[in-house]
Amino acid sequence: MIMQRILSGITPSGDGTLHIGNYLGAVKQFVELAKAYDCFLFVADLHALTTVQNRAQLQKNTETLIINELALLGDLTNITFFRQSDVPMHAELQSILNNVTQLGLLKRAHAYKDKLTKDVMEEDINMGLFCYPILMAADILIYKPDLVPVGKDQKQHIEITRDIAEKFNKTYRTHAFKLPEPYIPEEVAVVLGTDGKRKMSKSLGNIISIFDDEKVIKKQVMSTYTDPTRIHADDLGHIEGNMVFTYLDFFGEKGRIAELKGLYRSGKVADVEVKNYLFETLMKFFGPARERYKELSSNPALVKKILEDGAEKARDECKKTMTEVRNAIGLTNLYSFFHY
Ligand code: TRP
Repeated sequence: MIMQRILSGITPSGDGTLHIGNYLGAVKQFVELAKAYDCFLFVADLHALTTVQNRAQLQKNTETLIINELALLGDLTNITFFRQSDVPMHAELQSILNNVTQLGLLKRAHAYKDKLTKDVMEEDINMGLFCYPILMAADILIYKPDLVPVGKDQKQHIEITRDIAEKFNKTYRTHAFKLPEPYIPEEVAVVLGTDGKRKMSKSLGNIISIFDDEKVIKKQVMSTYTDPTRIHADDLGHIEGNMVFTYLDFFGEKGRIAELKGLYRSGKVADVEVKNYLFETLMKFFGPARERYKELSSNPALVKKILEDGAEKARDECKKTMTEVRNAIGLTNLYSFFHY
């Protein structure tokens, strides 16, 4: 039986470090899917160019993200992991798709419209940002995936991809592109930060890290928002909105959590004890990933090999689609340099 294919990309626009909110919001779902699907996953460094325009910073963000992702993914049996810029066919296909994409379609894109409302002059918006959806369409269509797992904010980009694919297929009377379906898991929690108020985000300083030193993580756990009405350990505690229990529900052991909740409600356990349990739980849960992280970050040759293997597999796939595309549009000739 042929496995269905999924494809997704992650943009290294942040510093590349992942926290438990990133894990719960995206990586966890991907790891689940990777058990049953043929997966292509890449770091979208070309997309990051729209905002990161400093050589050292882009390099650092990208390399950090690669190690964080690889450590969390673990088993790569069904996953082809690569860096977008190692596969030049994405950009080549974008050049072709530019010609079947109407200006109006891109002007309706949220990312572009949002930028305009943030008092940036239309004339000052870079074409990388404006054409972001076309590169993303190329990323997707070139691998002919069945599903594209993304966050809700990316739904429109998948719709634009479908529009572009349809337009191409119609214009050239071909079935070269398969219309992709977004996969947006409904139950994915928007994980609040340790302040219990806003979405977990590094810039807000309300994260729990995965790969930092134990000391750092302990401090983050200890400063997590619990129940502000509870002043003494024997006051009756509340579980709702208590971030320590929210995190425990994701990572802890059910029986122990139920027991702690009972004790907490009846004022028989101190915050610090529950927090200690959360800390231990996180260390245990992410233990194997933290080991892999150590190994990867001290072994650049290993990371390089993974990326080279991934890019090679990705390029093989791309060559197949590009041959079809070139044939469909009339870009082949017998003395071509390109033997796709
Ligand atoms: N735009 C996506 C994001 O910001 C990242 C991305 C780039 C992507 N190319 C992709 C996701 C292709 C899925 C498929 O999250």
